[in-house]
Amino acid sequence: MNIIEVKNISKKFDRKIVLDNISFNVDKGDIFGLIGPNGAGKSTLINIMTGLLDANGGSITIGGFDVKEEPLKAKKFLGLVPQELALLETISAYDNLEFFGSLYGLKGRNLKNKIDQTLDFTGLTEKKKEKVKKFSGGMKRRLNLAAAIMHEPEILILDEPTVGIDPQSRNHIFEFIKTVNREKNTTILYISHYMEEVEYLCNNIFIIDEGKEVAYGSKKSVKSMISNNNKVNLKVENLNKDLIERIRLIDSIINIDANNDEINLLVDADNFKLEPLLKILENNSSTIKSINVDEPNLEEVFLSLTGKKLRD
Ligand SMILES: Nc1ncnc2c1ncn2[C@@H]1O[C@H](COP(=O)(O)OP(=O)(O)OP(=O)(O)O)[C@@H](O)[C@H]1O
Ligand SMILES: [Mg+2]
Repeated sequence: MNIIEVKNISKKFDRKIVLDNISFNVDKGDIFGLIGPNGAGKSTLINIMTGLLDANGGSITIGGFDVKEEPLKAKKFLGLVPQELALLETISAYDNLEFFGSLYGLKGRNLKNKIDQTLDFTGLTEKKKEKVKKFSGGMKRRLNLAAAIMHEPEILILDEPTVGIDPQSRNHIFEFIKTVNREKNTTILYISHYMEEVEYLCNNIFIIDEGKEVAYGSKKSVKSMISNNNKVNLKVENLNKDLIERIRLIDSIINIDANNDEINLLVDADNFKLEPLLKILENNSSTIKSINVDEPNLEEVFLSLTGKKLRD
């Protein structure tokens, strides 16, 4: 079931088109990645999804409800961790959660339980009495996240939740996402310009650049869009120039790069077979210490499809 359906969404600010006919679906229970460089239109799309902005064209449904026609029903599904922190700095973490929880209509015993649970979930229990203004950036991010999940939304949207935070907080956030997704089947919409995060977390992805779709589909299908090239890394004993030249002659090898005891190959995945390579090494009495075959990563996909790097 598609818990989110984005259909032909367009948005202009003045005359500038910032979203150009964007469409995608998110499956219930998925971890879906929306990726693109600064200014691509990611937050604008989220703002339309959450009802903060109106689109100039197209529609979005959440849980089957149109966000324009039945905004309250649609919003019930959502928990949002916005790109900008939304916290009360002068009160404690606990009091913040009490405040946000009561906004969602939680009260009494239930509210207290939810506060304890989310503090635990985000690793902030020990800091609950501290004022937020004394928190590090990463701890604030985690508290922001805690506030977004108090009402146990079916969909959690995280807009660049790891920008400018320490590795420890980042790991907490990743673990948290995997846990709520697994244990509560929460659908995750993860927005980022860090390809490696999306690579690690997400199953399906949408890549956006300058308001336009660059690629959309499963991680695997998106990767296969750019190339059928795989990377093969070999560690070999008795490596010599002559051997490298003989490997270079294998048809399906596009590029070879060798130094010391290591060979890196770029190969045509459809035609590459290991046997001829192993035969050459065997004839040379070279011992293979390891072989690794890698798909291209998403950073390379983006570079290949847009001709530019995601980050400078
Ligand atoms: N309120 C606004 N008025 C005019 N232009 C805007 C407004 N909000 C965003 N924009 C423009 O729309 C484009 C998309 O911005 P948006 O914030 O959606 O990008 P983003 O993908 O979220 O980028 P980032 O990774 O930096 O958060 C940018 O060119 C931005 O300058
Ligand atoms: Mg943004």
